[in-house]
Amino acid sequence: MISQFVCFPKPVAGFSPEMTVNTWNFASLSLVQCSSGYGFRFPHKSKRERRILMCSDSSSQSWNVPVLSSSEVIERLKQARGGQQFLAMYSSVVDGITTDPAAMVLPLDDHMVHRGHGVFDTATIINGYLYELDQHLDRIIRSASMAKIPLPFRREDIRRILIQTVSVSGCRDGSLRYWLSTGPGDFLLSPSHCREPALYAIVIKTNLTTNPKGVKVVTSSIPIKPPEFATVKSVNYLPNVLSQMEAEAKGAYAGIWVDKDGFIAEGPNMNVAFVVNGGKELVMPRFDNVLSGCTAKRTLTLAEQLVNKGMLKSVKVMDVTIEDGKKADEMMLIGSGVLIKPVIQWDEEFIGDGKEGPIAKALLDLLLEDMSSGPSSVRVCVPY
Ligand SMILES: Cc1ncc(COP(=O)(O)O)c(C=O)c1O
Repeated sequence: MISQFVCFPKPVAGFSPEMTVNTWNFASLSLVQCSSGYGFRFPHKSKRERRILMCSDSSSQSWNVPVLSSSEVIERLKQARGGQQFLAMYSSVVDGITTDPAAMVLPLDDHMVHRGHGVFDTATIINGYLYELDQHLDRIIRSASMAKIPLPFRREDIRRILIQTVSVSGCRDGSLRYWLSTGPGDFLLSPSHCREPALYAIVIKTNLTTNPKGVKVVTSSIPIKPPEFATVKSVNYLPNVLSQMEAEAKGAYAGIWVDKDGFIAEGPNMNVAFVVNGGKELVMPRFDNVLSGCTAKRTLTLAEQLVNKGMLKSVKVMDVTIEDGKKADEMMLIGSGVLIKPVIQWDEEFIGDGKEGPIAKALLDLLLEDMSSGPSSVRVCVPY
């Protein structure tokens, strides 16, 4: 375990290492001198626990927050980032790419950080290719326009920067995430003093997990976002987070939003689809009130192959009521994180026979094949 360190500008009156061990019973706690004063080294305490230990009274004598030099900040950030697989980050604020996780930081005065005025998107890196980069790029540009965020660069320059960031990372399997914001400026509500819009991108090492096991979902009680916000992939994901937490608390994989008219909308980070009419029709809720999922749209195209094979009769985008959804032969979650995941139970009702269905399985196979060997319109080769 990494040893933690709490620093004081001057020695704390009356304490010696021996006394500290005896008094507080921390076998390996020691008082040491550092560049900014004196400190106790804790091997196993969280920051909060250390603060509680140190806050014996409110006088300035017991202030325990160290004032750090930039090199000490970097050193602590290196420790705080331990274990994470952040491989490269681009920031337009410094107009460069870093591979040092400790330097992968955002300015606090960025309008995205303190007011949520930012949009984001992703792309999966698979075997040295970016899957559906252009589709995700089109969406973030649409989101930026809806959020009134001017583009910091032309589309082709953003694309080039994203590909270069992946190239520098050396990552062949992972995830690219990127944000557009009105940028740093001040802490006011209006972005009018933000100096210039910003682009941030990060490459993370992840493993594509394709567990085809069916899951349970629950109807979300967290209010659904109104269409003007649900259709923008902004950083305002509080309802999505609360919906996910509610689902997890109920032992479910995800929450499903239903709109005020009783039509099925989407999950907190995925779209949904159903197989109805005796297992022969694939139906997906319309995208007017939800995020237009790149994976869902690609799945609609890939599903035509199942029509050609006779496994499906038709593929439709239409309103789906909660009653029809729960009576479906199959239900599935669709998104770049989840890929295609069969749902076998929604609230108390089993979907179909309560087992994973053949269409979800066939669609997952088609999607995986598309990701690993699809056409150049969905696979961008990264020059490493
Ligand atoms: C709210 C929401 N709906 C749907 C999706 C699925 O979109 P995609 O397939 O582009 O990942 C996401 C993904 O991030 C999402 O956040």
